[in-house]
Amino acid sequence: MVLIRRFEPRDLDQVLQIVFETFPERYNPNVFINLHQVYPDCFLVAEIIPAKIAGFLLGAKTNVDSVRILLFAVKREYRRKGIGSKMLKRFIREMLLQNIKKIELEVRRDNKLALNFYKKHGFNIVDIIPSFYQDKQSAYVLRKIL
Ligand SMILES: CC(C)(COP(=O)(O)OP(=O)(O)OC[C@H]1O[C@@H](n2cnc3c(N)ncnc32)[C@H](O)[C@@H]1OP(=O)(O)O)[C@@H](O)C(=O)NCCC(=O)NCCS
Repeated sequence: MVLIRRFEPRDLDQVLQIVFETFPERYNPNVFINLHQVYPDCFLVAEIIPAKIAGFLLGAKTNVDSVRILLFAVKREYRRKGIGSKMLKRFIREMLLQNIKKIELEVRRDNKLALNFYKKHGFNIVDIIPSFYQDKQSAYVLRKIL
């Protein structure tokens, strides 16, 4: 059974493992702790009960009415089972309750999988940022108006 809930500090090691497996960028663990302290409602995990973290979504508010998804991943073996959609829907519900009107995020231009996923969830490409990533690849900016 999958439970979507807010991140708790005890989840950190499993979240860092997913980050390590998924993204080439390396982050200081304090980034996750600090963002959680400031935006606890923007940090969700998918828990396969009991206690196995299958994915997470980390966002940050960028304005009174807008939020940015900073990192979002589901462990490879749990993908394509609806877990990412469940997390995103729960995130959107939480943001709507807080009168957030706009969700934005960046995706690598060659990340077809994620582009497909976000388009299915009503996001549109609104911009391109050249050399956005550490390896100089460019990003699409995606936006969903709530
Ligand atoms: C993007 C991601 C979070 C989606 O999570 P997920 O749990 O696999 O997504 P879902 O199972 O809810 O998929 C929902 C829909 O997205 C689309 N989708 C997801 N994976 C896809 C793939 N590999 N190819 C094509 N479409 C895909 C499909 O339309 C899918 O619906 P369907 O299975 O009914 O066809 C996950 O693939 C992931 O962790 N990717 C690597 C990290 C990443 O790119 N993160 C986003 C940028 S920060």
